[in-house]
Amino acid sequence: MKFFLDTADLNEIEEAASWGALAGVTTNPSLYAKIGGKVSDFQNHIKRICDIVDGPVSAESVAMTRDEIVRDGRELAAIAPNVVVKIPTMVEGLAATRILADEGIPVNMTLCFSVPQALLAARAGARYISPFIGRFDDISEDGLDQLENVVTAIGNYDFTPSTVNGEQIEIIAASVRSANHVTQAALMGADIATVPFSVLKKMVQHPLTDRGLETFLKDWEKVQNA
Ligand code: E4P
Repeated sequence: MKFFLDTADLNEIEEAASWGALAGVTTNPSLYAKIGGKVSDFQNHIKRICDIVDGPVSAESVAMTRDEIVRDGRELAAIAPNVVVKIPTMVEGLAATRILADEGIPVNMTLCFSVPQALLAARAGARYISPFIGRFDDISEDGLDQLENVVTAIGNYDFTPSTVNGEQIEIIAASVRSANHVTQAALMGADIATVPFSVLKKMVQHPLTDRGLETFLKDWEKVQNA
């Protein structure tokens, strides 16, 4: 499993990148609003993220028609070679994905909540599909079950010919709320987890690691004074 950071915050991205395990970044309009981003600075901001991270950086189109999404997608893809165009799973989004994929522009199909949506995204040429976990949990349904269904269904077929540049399609476990979501997503074989910085920090932690470290440090003190 690879790890993406789900944020538009440059400080978080720089810090996470320095830990050595970051493979990419996903942003969305809400995450950009959260850091006080302005529309006029959006493309520069994406460029700054791409300068920090070598891997895929998802930048979302908020357009609602295929022509506008394609226009956005081409503009976003021109920012840096590692930009991935994030497009919501809807009819116009599927049509735009087909056009962009045929041009070799990678698409991350987002707001995916069902197997049929994921299968359509794959057939339309999406390079990444992002089933959301946490938003199911928010309405008292099981997001992990939904993710597992998508992983199984996509794995039943070879979608390579329809994805960008013949690359294998990858499933991004999105809307991740906890380290346990990451564990379960990895066990079911999701290719990537995109996680908020708060979750990434929790992923590093374990109480037995803390306790073990405390003991090692205390025992090392004894050795110093022996
Ligand atoms: C995916 O790429 C989205 O940005 C994200 O995971 C949405 O998560 P949320 O439900 O926490 O907003």
